[in-house]
Amino acid sequence: MKSHPQVPLEDELGDVLEKAMSCAGLTPETLSERSGVPVSGIRDAVDYRPELGPDECRRLAAALGLNEVGLCALASGKYPLPDSEGLPFRVWPLRMAHGIGVVNAYVVGGEGGRGLLFDTGPGEGALEAVWPGHVHGIDGIFVTHIEAEHAGGLVGAVGRFGVSQAFVPAGAEAASARPMGEGEVFSLGALRVTAFRTPGHCAMHNCYHVTSTAVPSARSLLISGDLVFAGSAGGPYHCHKQLRAHLRRVLAAVPPDTVVAPGHGPMTTAGNELRYNPFVA
Ligand SMILES: [Fe+2]
Repeated sequence: MKSHPQVPLEDELGDVLEKAMSCAGLTPETLSERSGVPVSGIRDAVDYRPELGPDECRRLAAALGLNEVGLCALASGKYPLPDSEGLPFRVWPLRMAHGIGVVNAYVVGGEGGRGLLFDTGPGEGALEAVWPGHVHGIDGIFVTHIEAEHAGGLVGAVGRFGVSQAFVPAGAEAASARPMGEGEVFSLGALRVTAFRTPGHCAMHNCYHVTSTAVPSARSLLISGDLVFAGSAGGPYHCHKQLRAHLRRVLAAVPPDTVVAPGHGPMTTAGNELRYNPFVA
């Protein structure tokens, strides 16, 4: 699988600063007092006019408890994105416009034109417009969290493919889907899917780790939903402490070369995000 360098990062420096200020309960004014960076520079960065130098970035990272190297890389437009080649199964990222943004779902290829679907996009039409021609059957659907942009197409996809095995995070409810909790495993041929319970962005959120039992030494895949993005994290709407704790826990629980496939933005790896993600301090 080729990496997709043309896919822009989901969050720019300003988005990361805004999320981190909300986590820390700081305003541009109180962050300025704490960091010594002029409030105008912080406001400009939040408004996507970043002119912060490396020293100011370092002071902001320290004041917000962020990863300094990753924050400076974002500020200079040089956030590293590793390749995502060498997986033992095919992955089709399905990128769908929703509102002012773009949301990702993924098909992971099994045998004979069949596969597993992770998240379902905002609706049946959106999913159909980007559907990979080689995939004719779906044997399991896994939803990271119940939000319109990630789960709006669930009922349509279940109906279209006659899927009997659809899963949502334990505690969440959706028609025609069953709960999947921490450590639960689903197997289909050589594909194995293990759930991580990862509240933070919302209360009921799962990540899914996909491995191949046919090639146990090969790279694996982590479907990360809105827990972690390349260079950022989902909005901490439920609990920022849980979000950051689960982000670190899950990235450290899988091998460093694991390909991370987020709900928004480009793919990355677990090792890359442990090293550079601003929210892994
Ligand atoms: Fe989302």
